[in-house]
Amino acid sequence: MTKEEKVIKRKNKSRRLKLVWSFMRGSKAFFIISIISALISALIDVINPQVISVTVDNVIGTEEADIPAFVTEWINAAGGFGFFKDRLYIVGGIIILLAAIAVVFQYCNRVFNTKGAETLVKTMRDSIFSHIERLPFSWHMKNQTGDIIQRCTSDVDTVKRFLSEQLTSLLRTLIMLVLSIYMMFSMNVKMALIACAFMPVVIIFSVIFNMKVEKQFTVCDENEGILSAMAQENLTGVRVVRAFGRERYEREKFNKQNEKYTGLWIRLHRMFALYWSATDLVVAIQVMFIVIIGAIMCVNGEMTAGKYIAFISYNAMLVWPIRQLGRMISEMSKAGVSLGRIDEIMSAEEEHDKPGAIKPDMNGDIRFEHVTFNYDGCPVILDDIDFEIKVGTTLGILGGTGSGKSTLMYLLNRLYDIPEGNGRITVGGVDIADMNAAWVREHVGMVLQEPFLFSRSIAENIGIAKDDATLLEIRQAARIACLDETIGSFSKGYDTFVGERGVTLSGGQKQRAAIARLVMQKTPIMVFDDSLSAVDTETDSKIRCALKETSAQSTVILISHRITTLMHAEKIIVLDHGKIAEEGTHEELIKLGGIYKKIYDIQSMGAEEAV
Ligand SMILES: Nc1ncnc2c1ncn2[C@@H]1O[C@H](COP(=O)(O)OP(=O)(O)O)[C@@H](O)[C@H]1O
Ligand SMILES: [Mg+2]
Repeated sequence: MTKEEKVIKRKNKSRRLKLVWSFMRGSKAFFIISIISALISALIDVINPQVISVTVDNVIGTEEADIPAFVTEWINAAGGFGFFKDRLYIVGGIIILLAAIAVVFQYCNRVFNTKGAETLVKTMRDSIFSHIERLPFSWHMKNQTGDIIQRCTSDVDTVKRFLSEQLTSLLRTLIMLVLSIYMMFSMNVKMALIACAFMPVVIIFSVIFNMKVEKQFTVCDENEGILSAMAQENLTGVRVVRAFGRERYEREKFNKQNEKYTGLWIRLHRMFALYWSATDLVVAIQVMFIVIIGAIMCVNGEMTAGKYIAFISYNAMLVWPIRQLGRMISEMSKAGVSLGRIDEIMSAEEEHDKPGAIKPDMNGDIRFEHVTFNYDGCPVILDDIDFEIKVGTTLGILGGTGSGKSTLMYLLNRLYDIPEGNGRITVGGVDIADMNAAWVREHVGMVLQEPFLFSRSIAENIGIAKDDATLLEIRQAARIACLDETIGSFSKGYDTFVGERGVTLSGGQKQRAAIARLVMQKTPIMVFDDSLSAVDTETDSKIRCALKETSAQSTVILISHRITTLMHAEKIIVLDHGKIAEEGTHEELIKLGGIYKKIYDIQSMGAEEAV
């Protein structure tokens, strides 16, 4: 690893910690209570072997007691060691009582830990979701939905599992370690040194192992992301898969990825199995050493029987947790990997306006001033585009697929920003880059080429743009979009569910629903991006007439392949390979005899033949 990589890694780690800390708002108190409970239960667990030791050596045996003065005072007040010797059940009761108290605190530890973890994870999900909602359109275009979903579910779960199952036991283990080491050294330094000698072996082993696991786990997680994305894409694109008979191909592709993923997990678990068995062996050897050496010391009189028993208890408190520590660290590294993947989403920059972004009047002329644009790392798509649309007029845009028509509209809607120095778009003389993005979108209504409808009722889908839309308004909008009749034919009318759980609308019906949605919004600028392509010519002209009436004040941009759709526009531009090839009214363009005329001839010839 180079120096720079190390610095980046360290930075990432501190950023992840900060991220967790920010998610912890609202759950800190739960974690604190849980940690305190863990501390108390650990303390009690450490006291218990002492009670046994004193009982064996001083109550039953006759050794000199070396216990704290206040404890001796208590014992004397109760009637001395002899009193307890006759009533051993009291000692038994004390041991059970201590164990019971420890259990109660362990219970609190678990409950509050879970509460904390669940609260934290809820905050986390909320934060991720609202962050994703605020990320720019370009980010969404670049990332696969399935992979994002995997990060929001599986990765969040991994973090949760660590926080709810491992975090406080990790703390408890550390507390136990410190306390038992302290107790062992205070009882017998030589034996304590022997017991601790094994620690570095187990710890080094764990660290090496965990570094390997972290790498392997990252690979596993990434592959899970790929698998999710694959499944998601196949579900969304089920029609294409069926239509082209690609089921077998897709299944094989999925199986291959699935097999790879399974193999990775098997390898990971083989590593785990090796680790557990190896550390088991080391720990068993250590325990054997302590038992044998302790026994020899007892025989030689270097240690009392009670202390021997207590020491073995402390040793158990030491070695098993150390071995667990490895597991916890590996869970921690897994959670770290997942957190890193979540952090990749969280550190993506949210969309933000320029300081002092304004909300000007949007009823003005629209100007595209020498706009040049390309998508990240792609060739230039729009090259020095320059034109004007007078307020309240209609502009038609004609152009082949891929000529940049939709991109032009994305720019107008601020879905992508024009880089500095590549021209600008103004509305009423104000650069839209200086405006509040939400404001721009509120006033530039768009019917996209492929409209998206939510799995909700038709009424909800149409009324989405207006908070208090009445059914009357919705029906009015649907009528303009020539959809009212169709909806009337559904048995549930406007309450009909769209999509997965309800009717599937045809392409043309979807387009019309999207048009109705825009009509509801009544924006000063309306864009119809090829939105009448899936309706027949007659309906197309009906809708346009109805729209003309309701949107008389709006500036309209019509994008279409159909000359009949565009020909009545006040101005038409013809886009060709990212440049404006022709510009003018229908008559002017026909006279010009260029691309427009050629397309017109082809289309009217087709129409004549059809007649
Ligand atoms: N998000 C994107 N990233 C990269 N290239 C894109 C993206 N969206 C569209 N393109 C490319 O930009 C060009 C213009 O696309 P588009 O504006 O959708 O054309 P049109 O609407 O005229 O058919 C096409 O070549 C397309 O491949
Ligand atoms: Mg398009």
